[in-house]
Formats: sequence, C-alpha cells, structure tokens
Amino acid sequence: MCGIVGFTGKDQAVPFLLEGLQTLEYRGYDSAGIEVLSPDGGLHGVKCAGRVATLKERCATANLLGSTGIAHTRWATHGAPTDRNAHPHLDCSGRIAVVHNGIIENFRDLRAYLSRNGHTIVSDTDSEVVAHLIEDAWAGPAQGDLVAAVRNAVQRLEGSWALAVECADTPGQLVVARKGSPLVIASDEHGAYAASDITPLAAITSHVIQLEDDQFGLLRDDGSVTVYDKDGIEVAEPSTIDIDWDASAATLGGYADFMAKEIAEQPEALERLLEDRLGEHGVELDELSLSREQLAAIDRVYLVACGTSYHVCLIAKEMIEEWARIPVFCEYASELNYKDPLVTDHTLCVIVTQSGETADTLAAARRMRALGCNVFAITNVLGSTAARESDGTMYIQAGPEVCVASTKAYTAQMVAAALLALRLGYTNGTIDRAEVERHFRNLQAVPDLMREVIARRWQDKQAAQLFRDAHSSLFLGRGVNATTAYEGALKLKEISYLHAEAYPAGEMKHGPIALLEKGFPVVAIVPADHVHEKMVSNIQEVIARGASCVAVATDGDETVASMCQHTLWIPACPEELVTPIVAVVHLQLLARYVARSRGCDVDKPRNLAKSVTVE
Ligand code: F6R
Repeated sequence: MCGIVGFTGKDQAVPFLLEGLQTLEYRGYDSAGIEVLSPDGGLHGVKCAGRVATLKERCATANLLGSTGIAHTRWATHGAPTDRNAHPHLDCSGRIAVVHNGIIENFRDLRAYLSRNGHTIVSDTDSEVVAHLIEDAWAGPAQGDLVAAVRNAVQRLEGSWALAVECADTPGQLVVARKGSPLVIASDEHGAYAASDITPLAAITSHVIQLEDDQFGLLRDDGSVTVYDKDGIEVAEPSTIDIDWDASAATLGGYADFMAKEIAEQPEALERLLEDRLGEHGVELDELSLSREQLAAIDRVYLVACGTSYHVCLIAKEMIEEWARIPVFCEYASELNYKDPLVTDHTLCVIVTQSGETADTLAAARRMRALGCNVFAITNVLGSTAARESDGTMYIQAGPEVCVASTKAYTAQMVAAALLALRLGYTNGTIDRAEVERHFRNLQAVPDLMREVIARRWQDKQAAQLFRDAHSSLFLGRGVNATTAYEGALKLKEISYLHAEAYPAGEMKHGPIALLEKGFPVVAIVPADHVHEKMVSNIQEVIARGASCVAVATDGDETVASMCQHTLWIPACPEELVTPIVAVVHLQLLARYVARSRGCDVDKPRNLAKSVTVE
C-alpha cells in the first residue's frame, strides 16, 4: 500500500528512484511522483495521476538532476488519485519534501491547527501535514537539524507511517522514519538507499537494515547510515536482514506477466518448502517456538488471515481437524479484531499472510498475543512485521510475489499449513509415523501434479471464452473444495472485474440457483472424492436450467465431461486433502485467461494493492 524509495549519493538519483518505483508498483499504482534536490539548491519534481510508466515519460522531458531524491507510488486512502494528491508533498517554503506510506489518523485536527497557524495545505491527503509539521519544527525546536525536526513532527502524529524526508537545506541527507509501515535501508559505495521493501534493493545488496517502529534513519551521500531511537539516541546495532533471493526473481524473465510467471513457479516453490522436512518429530518444524509438551497440550487453534490467505485457513482447518483432531476456528482478521475470541490457556493462533504486513492481520495477531496465545506466522516476506512480532515464523520461501493476485503464496501456504497439521497430529498422537510419512509423500506428489495441470493450460484458455461477455458467474464445490470455489471466484473477480459468487454446491438450491439462466457460466469443482456423486447431482441442477458448466474433474471422469461444456482435467490426486492445491491451479489459469480476454491488466487490478497496510 504505497511504495517509497529514496536515494542520496554521488550518482544521479532519478534512475534508481524510477526503477525502484517500478519494482514497488505492486504496492499501489494510482499516482506517482518524484522530488530531487537539484544542483541549483532547490527541490524539483514531477508528480502525476496514473502509473509509474506515465511518471517516467514525464521525467524524460523534465531533466531532473540531482543526487538526493525521494519518490512514491500511491494507493489512495485520503484524497482522489490526482496530480495534486500525488506524493511527494512539500511544506510552504517548498524546501522540505515528504513521501508517506500509512495513515495519519489525526490529520484533520493537524490540518486545522496548521491552517490556523498560517500554513497553506494544497492537497486532500492525510500525508501533507507531515511536511508542514517538519517545517515548523525545523524553524523552531529542531534548529536546522533534520532528524530532530522529523522526530519532533512525528511526535504529533497518530496512525501509521513510513516516511522519507529531504530538505533543500541539508544537501546529501535523507531522513526516514517508521511506525507500523515497513521501511528498509541499504548502502554501497554509490550512496544510501531507502525503500518500502527489499525488492528495489536486491540488485544492490544482500544485506539491509530494517527500521523498527519508532526509529529514524539518517542516510548520507557517502553511504553512511545512522539509526536513532525515539529519544534521538543512536541505535548501536540496528536490526538487519539478509536477502536470500537474487534480483532476477522479481523480473518477468520472459513471461507475459507476473501472474503467468508465479503460476508456473508453484511446483518448485512447493518442492523447496517440503525439502528436508521428515525427521524424528514426524515433520520437522523448528520454526515453532513451543516445546513438545506445549504442542501436545494445544486444545484449539485460531487461524486468522485476510482474502486469499483466509482461504488457506479454511483448508488448514480441514487438515488440522482431520490429522490432529484439534478444533479450529477460522476468522477474518478484520472481523476478529471486533470480537471476543474464545481463547484458552492452550490456544495456538496461526496467522497466514503472504506480505506479513496486512494491517488487519497484524492487529489480530497482537490482540491474540495479548490474550496469551502463542502466535505462529506463516508468511513469505523475510523480516516482515508478522515475522518479527510472532513467537514463531514459517517462511513459505515462494520468492517475491509481484502480481497483486496471490497464486504461488496461496498454494505454498496450504502446504505450510499441511506440515503444521501433520506436526500437531504426530505430537498429540492422533497419527503415527507411518501415517505422517504417507501424507507427506502425498504432499510430495503435488508439484508434479501441478506441472501436469500447467501443461494443460490450453483447456483454461478455451473455457475462458464462456466468460468473456458474461456479467456474472457462480463457482461451486463441496467439502474441502468449497474453498477452492471461493478462491476461484475471488481470483476471477479481482483480475477480470467479472462478478463471481462462490457457494458450497449443496447450498445452491437455497438461493443462488435463482441466478441461473441460459448461458450463465458456472464452474463446478468435482474431483474424484467422497462427495463426487453429490456434486454430479448439483451439476445436473445447473444444466437443467440452461446454464453453462465448466468442470474441474479428475482424468477419466466421462460422466462429468459429458454433462459440461468444458472440462478442466486434473490428474488423480493421492488423497482428498491435496486436491485443492492441484485443482486451484486451473482456476488461477482460467481467471488469467478471462482477464486477458477482457483486456484487463492481470498484474495490477484496479483499486487493489498487494500489501494492505491500512485497517
Ligand atoms: C487476493 C489477494 C488478497 C490477499 C490479502 C491478504 O489474490 O492476494 O486477498 O490474500 O490481501 O494479504 P496477505 O496474505 O499479504 O496478508
């Protein structure tokens, strides 16, 4: 949710800033801007509504020179996505520029206060107040010390922020600050860099400083960096992380879009995750911070997440309840935050979050921790807030997920959850070693089954034609694959803007069946499992009303194929609980083909952002 980059050094700032924004664009893409401290001693910039590509075009003719600068790509919260509301925002003198990610909750009071005191606020954003507060502090108590001015201003803010600030009167310096929104810093012989996450920095270094909440960083053009705490005391050993993927992991590498690339990367991601996991504890999960006794005592599990990651929780519930026989509560993080959860002394709370920065999920985790739960995070992003604030963290090691619609993180998170379920079951004695090994081997079979589905993507391309001119659609599944239906519908609507509703198939007759008419597209997930016959009956109900049915079915299922317009074939899966991991690949591919046929940008769907850092 908004991407920030900053640079101060010996080289020109604009090339890094624009490239950095491009790689961070998945965080928000409704407007963008850049502000550089030029050799004439003033700040000069360009900002515009639209994508980073538009900003690049504008910069090509703006001749922005200077070796200190900040830039921003926006996902609007306060104020429409216009040129005027794009960041960076300036103070009244035009000598202080600020980019901000997060929300300043008390901005209305601050605007009123600043206006009363003679400041002219030009945008509708919550962020602009920060530049004016720094202006006041600079001229007042901070007496020309930029770190002190930012510290002073931040003391008046409520909400969350990652900030990068430059000042025309402190050439060769950038100041950054963080509370609740991520910010990382790197340096090399060319200078010092700041960014919202590690993606723009992976090409520069494998080692970054991770700013903690309430810390400030002073970046200098000789590449030196000093981190201060909230009292202005230098932090001797700032927290650091090592980047374990190379920069090419975040490039297209010959694919038409990141969604295609990330769908294709799934089998390898799962293989990485499963490597060396079998051991004396059944499944080895060193990431858990609980003793054997504590694990065995767990009497309920809360699974908490948002969006696609919430769907992982629904599948994980089935796995934990079947393999470990522990009752599981699944909660949307945004809902749990306003409930009174039924926590016992032995409740494990598992948060599932690709980005590790989803504000609702973090808030829920903090709450569950305060209630005494051990919080275990399943996440993709190294050093993310979820990882840092949890008692234990399992990284899914899927590599950077750039497409806003989650694909490889979804399937990798399901596998991570399966490993947790096996570990819980083995520890509390509900499954023995032979059973653990059998389920584990079944998981190991999944990557090849996925490869087979990906090789059959022409089936999805053909089926996509049914949806191109549709106005709505319905996804149906039963048992564990009701969740596959939910996820398929979410993928389709978020990237193709075609309405899609998902229902447990048996519930269709209680309402959604009224939607059906001639040609209405329905997707039925009907693998060979214990509810197969029931699903076949539901498909009958669909086609009896003239609707068009696309089935996800197991190889050889001629009964289903003969009833449906299109069949998306999956190979036979070794057990029912792994079918969602295989079947969903077809639905990812289907959504992508439908979106492309409707002319949509699959990687950057409208109104969405990859990392939702506001509640
Ligand atoms: C949908 C999608 C979102 C995310 C949700 C949670 O394709 O990606 O629904 O799953 O915003 O994000 P994380 O997992 O980063 O907490």
